[in-house]
This record gives sequence, C-alpha cells and structure tokens, in this order.
Amino acid sequence: MKLYIGIDLGTSAVKLLLADEKGAILREVSREYPLSFPRPGWSEQKPEDWWTAVRDAFPELLAGHDPADVAGIGAGGQMHGLVILDDEDRVIRPAILWNDGRTGEETAWLNEEIGRKKLSELTANIAFAGFTAPKILWIRKHEPENFARIAKIMLPKDYINYCLTGVHSCDYSDASGMLLLDVKNRRWSEEMLRICGVSEAQMPGLYESWEVTGTLKPETAAELGLPETVKVAAGAGDNAAAAVGTGIVGEGGCNISLGTSGTLFISSAHFGVDPNNALHAFAHADGGWHLMGCMLSAAGCNKWLCEDILGTADYAGEQADIREEDLGRNHVFFLPYLMGERSPINDVDARGTFTGLTLDTARKDLVQAVLEGVAFAIRDSFEVARSLGLDIPRSRICGGGSRSPLWRKIFANVLGIPLDTVKTEQGPGYGGAMLAMVGDGLFATVKEAADALTEVGGTTVPDPELTARYEEQYRKFRLLYPALKSVFPQIL
Ligand code: XUL
Repeated sequence: MKLYIGIDLGTSAVKLLLADEKGAILREVSREYPLSFPRPGWSEQKPEDWWTAVRDAFPELLAGHDPADVAGIGAGGQMHGLVILDDEDRVIRPAILWNDGRTGEETAWLNEEIGRKKLSELTANIAFAGFTAPKILWIRKHEPENFARIAKIMLPKDYINYCLTGVHSCDYSDASGMLLLDVKNRRWSEEMLRICGVSEAQMPGLYESWEVTGTLKPETAAELGLPETVKVAAGAGDNAAAAVGTGIVGEGGCNISLGTSGTLFISSAHFGVDPNNALHAFAHADGGWHLMGCMLSAAGCNKWLCEDILGTADYAGEQADIREEDLGRNHVFFLPYLMGERSPINDVDARGTFTGLTLDTARKDLVQAVLEGVAFAIRDSFEVARSLGLDIPRSRICGGGSRSPLWRKIFANVLGIPLDTVKTEQGPGYGGAMLAMVGDGLFATVKEAADALTEVGGTTVPDPELTARYEEQYRKFRLLYPALKSVFPQIL
C-alpha cells in the first residue's frame, strides 16, 4: 500500500503525519521550535530550525513502515513569512512571520501612497502588516545590505520543499498572501514586484497546490531514508491546506481554524473580492478561490493565558470549572489583540485587554473571557462575510482549539450556526497529504480527494437561548475596541 506524508509547518511546532492510500492516518509526530519576539510586536523564526525539526521527525514517523512505500509529500505552512536566500541558497536572516507587526509604516505607505484601490486591482487585496510585500520594503529600508543579497524570496513551507527537492516553488494559495500575486490571473504582478524593488527572477516558480514540483534530492533521500522517487507536491498555505483537509473545497463551504491564529475561510469556485478588502481574497488549493478573515491570536491567547500567565498546560483542567449557566453571562471581556490585529480591524497597535474585572472575578472567568473574546473576534469577520451577502448556514471547525468541547459550544452559540468536526481533524497536515495523493494521481482532483476522504465526525448545535445571551454579550464586546482604539497607540 502506498504511503503519503503530510507536513503542517505551524508557528509553535511542525506536525508530520503518515497516511495510507485509503486516507487512514497511521502515525503523527511533532517537533517544537522556538519563536522569538526581538521587540514587542515583532515575531521571527529561523528557517533552519524548521528544517532541523522536520528532518528530526522522520525516523519516528516512519518507524515500523517500509520507507519504500512512501510515494508523496505535501505541506501546508504558516503563511506570509518572509524567507530570503542568497545566491548560494543560504538563509540571509531569520524569517519575519505572519504575526509580525513591524511594518506599520510600509503598510501605510502601500495603502495610502500606492493606494488601496490600485493594490486591490493588482492583487485583489490591500496591505496588512503581516503580508510579505511590506516586509520586503522594510528590509530594503532597514537592512539594505541584506536586501542587496536577496537571490530568492520564499514562504515558510516553500523553504521545506526547497530542502526536500532543491526546487524553488510556491503555490497560488500561499503566494496570494504575499501581495505580489495577481490572484485573479494566478501570476506574479509585475507592477507589485517593481513597487517592491524585486524581479521575477527572485521569485519562486508558481504551481497549483497539487502539482508535483520535483522529487527528493539524492542526498536528502539518503538522509531521510526515503526513495528518490518520492514526489513533492507544491502544497498550500496552512488555511487552504486545512480547508482541503476538512473537505471545504468548491463553492460556498466554510471552515474555521483555531490554531495560533484564527481564521474564517469561505471557499468559492469563482474569483471574488470584498469591496472593502476587510477579508482577504486568495486562491484556494483546489484550483478555485476563497475569502478569509484572519485574527492573529486565537488559540494563541488561550496558550498564553494558561502557559505563560497561569503556569499550566492543563487547558481542560482550567475549563473544567466553567459551568453551563456561566456561558453568556460573563461580566469580564477580553480583547484578543495580543499581537495587534489583522481582520477585520487591521490595527498593528491594538493590544489585549481584560475589562470588567471586579473583586469577585475568579481565575475561571478570565479563562472564559479569553475563549469568548476569540469567538467574538471571529464573529467580527463572520459579520463582514454576511454583509457581503454570503450565506454561512454552518461551518466546519479544526485546529488545536477545536478539540475543546466547551470552546466549540461557545463558538457555535456566538456564531449561531452548527459546527462540524471531521473525523480526520489534522487540518493542514491531512490536507497536505491529500494534495500529495492528487499529485501522485490517486485522485483526479482535490475535490475528488475531499469527497472520498473527509467525513463529519460530530456536530455542535447552537442552543437558541444561549445564542440569544451571546448576541447581547457580542453587542457589549463590540463597544470595547472603538472606545480603546485611540488609546492603544499612546500606551505602546
Ligand atoms: C493567514 C495567517 C495565519 C497563518 C498562521 O493569513 O496569517 O493563519 O497562516 O499559520
């Protein structure tokens, strides 16, 4: 039986999974790597650490299986991160990640001087601080010696693919988040490259996510103990890969991903742009497109509160005291803007806050406020989608945070729609393996793979009474950011 490897190159760890040709997951392994915050709001990682972690995970992943059966590898990766290589393909500096907010000035310059209208015409999107183009401008201004050495610009999972194959590649879904792609026509925007002072020769080759970009380099195959014939698919940005992994392809499906970031992902067979550009308009990994709202700190907020502040990794234990009757009645509110915020407020200066504390506020109220604040912030993007006339009667949900039944219940009631989990809940990694299967010819299309391999495992249904309570809570939540917006820049 042929085997396929899916890689989920996340922000806190890389997860690898081994699946057979029937889609059964045989093993999962993960390796963590450091994330550094050189200054408040900055966020970097070393591409070499990603590759070391991936390489290190292979023996455990393959133990007990015949490596000769491995036919393909596909990766989903954290989007937007700027990886720059010199003319000998050496990494020039640490990658500047998707949740890095240093490019406020460059983002404003792009949106105001080049202009939102022109950016949207060229790329279907406007500039957000985490996108790749403003980071290139930042390097040009602040690190001219590094800028001068750039031979290739890559995204995180593309660096892994490069280490595997020696090919500089990028897929359309991930490339969409660079603000350098003409998303509608699926080609680099010459004009945007010119604005950023880079040439097409510095960009990787473009592929559909399921297309095979190459096979393993002989030395890498030997190092990983795999045959040189293993095909590597171009892969996808982690949200597109997660949508493939949960079966959200084609027209009108919705997936919510609760990882370090939180995203609302609406798939479409047709190209379309949010006229206000609050939602991103990106290519999908199935050959179509999607609209997406991305909040920068979602499950990341819960991780921060539990691990860094409360000093525990027992998330379920922290949630155990939150009673059914407490839901929708919390007087503590949390703004989840720990790294500034992207969708829909686009504000690098926004910060996290607890509001409404009283002497009887307990630890569990803070935990609940964090879970609710994240759900309210996703609701903000949901409302933007609704205002565009999009009907979202239900959604799938995936990512680490979705494993909490309590959090799923909060989300279903804050959004007022049923939320489905899929049996194979390993979103981006599973999607990556599925893309590799399509690339290897096991399925003719990504849709065919999604129909064959993804199945709903459970549904969280909203309760009308609780939904009504959360409606009122959401109204209160919405008062907070406008009241604090002008305060945030003054307290940085
Ligand atoms: C999407 C985004 C995040 C990262 C997280 O636009 O920035 O979801 O992809 O890995």
